[in-house]
Amino acid sequence: MQTDRYDNTITTASAAVADAYADAVDCLLAGAPGLIPAFEAVTEADPAFALGWVGLARAHQSFGAMPAAGQAMERARSLPAGLTERERSHLNAFDLLIAGKGPQAYAAIRAHVNTWPRDALVAQTCSSVFGLIGFSGQPGREAEILAFTAALMPHYGEDWWMTSQYAFALCENGALARAEAQIDRALALRDRNAHGAHVRSHILYETGRTAEGRAWLSDWLAPYARDGIMYGHLTWHSALWSLAERDTEAMWAQVDAAVAPDSGSLSPGINVLTDTASILQRAMMAGVAVSADRWAAVSAYALQAFPATGNAFIDVHAALAHAMAGNDAALEAIITAPAGPAADLVPGLACGFRAMAAEDWGAASENLTGAMSDLARIGGSRAQRDLVEQCLLTSLIRDGREREAQDIARLRRPLLVSGADTHATH
Ligand SMILES: [Fe+2]
Repeated sequence: MQTDRYDNTITTASAAVADAYADAVDCLLAGAPGLIPAFEAVTEADPAFALGWVGLARAHQSFGAMPAAGQAMERARSLPAGLTERERSHLNAFDLLIAGKGPQAYAAIRAHVNTWPRDALVAQTCSSVFGLIGFSGQPGREAEILAFTAALMPHYGEDWWMTSQYAFALCENGALARAEAQIDRALALRDRNAHGAHVRSHILYETGRTAEGRAWLSDWLAPYARDGIMYGHLTWHSALWSLAERDTEAMWAQVDAAVAPDSGSLSPGINVLTDTASILQRAMMAGVAVSADRWAAVSAYALQAFPATGNAFIDVHAALAHAMAGNDAALEAIITAPAGPAADLVPGLACGFRAMAAEDWGAASENLTGAMSDLARIGGSRAQRDLVEQCLLTSLIRDGREREAQDIARLRRPLLVSGADTHATH
């Protein structure tokens, strides 16, 4: 009998395959380079090992390669019976998830994790801001991720992955000191954990430690290969700090090396679109000139990569890109046909961006304010949603309402108000 690193029984006869599977799962949990080859090595070594195919499907899905994910799931389903009850449940959960049946997948995953809390690959689908809870569009999504990860913590002991996920949930709920203690612990257990490095970057951002964050992340990123799933997004974090320090030369170098659509980024499309639109807009609000070509490229990428609405976080960034590129037809399509669980927030934000592009600051303020009471429902992290916060502050200031902008900044982002990250003075 073989087991995975979390002591779950796996149906493969070979210890070598079990080791390769443990490595591949760790690769996914750590956001390490070589993820697809790691799972391919498992399926090549034992084509009858169903969970190897499920893992490969999840790896492809992580990069947004849905046809390849579907094919791998088909292979998993085609294998003869003989799986354990956990493996059957694991396979079923990913089958639903990869088929796009989000609500059914969520129900199956919660039930699965209740029975097998140490099935990390299944738990991982709900444990961060880009997961099933994170994109649920529901009020209280941040608290729900914290409750989910806190409930799992006692089952994991000294585990670098679970601890880093718990730290992220603490950070996003504003428990920054506790988050920092947990991420220090997680990274002490395994430093080369890109998701852990990401969490520390968020904590450094939330606490306004720009110079410290920029230096630390630069060191961490140096040996991290481009095919690591977090390479583009961590580069975006670094570029934000470059912008905050007014080092625009470094910021553009980072955007052009690993963030923008034409950078050769290997990141998931959601990161390419949202990170590029975000940094361009934040640069503009900081007084940095952004060429029309850059906006046109991200608008075109949004249309090609995400032709249909359905995820508010993606759609809001697409709307921003279309507004700034002057792509009225694409913007109108999002405004008139929003979809998904947070669709109600999308038109107001999109109209706000359109008003910003037209320099109608009063209309921009009015539209953006409407989404502020529960902006977290659109998904993403607090750092990512600062884009919208800063759009509102900028619109208010340019509308001559500086006092209102100051009050809102102090109310919503008190720790960042005094830092260089707040561009609202421009
Ligand atoms: Fe992030």
